[in-house]
Amino acid sequence: QEHQFQAATEGDARGPCPGLNALANHGFLPHNGKNITIPMVLKAGREGFNVHRDLLIVAAKQGVVASALDDQFALTDIGLHGNIEHDASLSRVDRDLGDHLSFSEEIYSTLANSNPDVDYYDTTSAGQVQKARQEHSQANNPKFRNTIKEFQIRTRESALYLAVMGDPKTGVAPKKFVNVFFREERLPLAEGWRISKTQVEPSTDAPLFAAIIKASEWQANPEQCPWVTLAA
Ligand code: HEM
Ligand code: MG
Repeated sequence: QEHQFQAATEGDARGPCPGLNALANHGFLPHNGKNITIPMVLKAGREGFNVHRDLLIVAAKQGVVASALDDQFALTDIGLHGNIEHDASLSRVDRDLGDHLSFSEEIYSTLANSNPDVDYYDTTSAGQVQKARQEHSQANNPKFRNTIKEFQIRTRESALYLAVMGDPKTGVAPKKFVNVFFREERLPLAEGWRISKTQVEPSTDAPLFAAIIKASEWQANPEQCPWVTLAA
């Protein structure tokens, strides 16, 4: 049937974004993860996750900036460090410490072990996880970059996994759905997940974003300025 999960195999491009990887695994994006245009991203985000284009357009444009091509990118291209890709990810090792593109259970364990005693993640746990991941990178990565740019992207990503796997209005997301999303890059349909009837859009995103910021107790590293890496 259409949009059934099909794991990536040799030759398929996958990258540091579990959301786009999952969309490719379900055929909302080309299964080979290549030749992805901005309109394709916006359509896949709506069809696969009911995310409004306004939450995706800047990232989608950055995807093209990370690519050597004029109007498209591959899912590996967007691993370009310093473009969207950043340190202190939720499920990937920092670029200067190892493989920053593939899922790491060791890194993901911080999120997986968060919010103990309940079966959901929320904006408070998401903020606490961001804080813990930042402290880990600060302690282990001499080249750790942590400016307002990385922080805003990280917070947007946290708000996105809560909204697409949970309730976009409350930011409460069942752990069993979020864990399948990250670990298998699969829509957890078999586990009972269904695409949200409420669209994930700026008005639902803003309160989640603010609550995560509050819980993360973020501070910038001194003497670092935001910059963007362009494709070669
Ligand atoms: C990372 C979700 C769309 C590019 C992430 C992460 C999540 C996420 C949860 C954090 C992964 C981690 O920290 O380990 C989503 C969802 C999307 C979406 C649900 C909805 C369609 C996009 C778009 C782009 C993009 C449109 C741009 C082309 C990236 C990149 C990363 C990332 C480059 C890696 C950042 C890093 O952790 O270093 N995404 N994303 N994503 N996303 Fe997406
Ligand atoms: Mg990263």
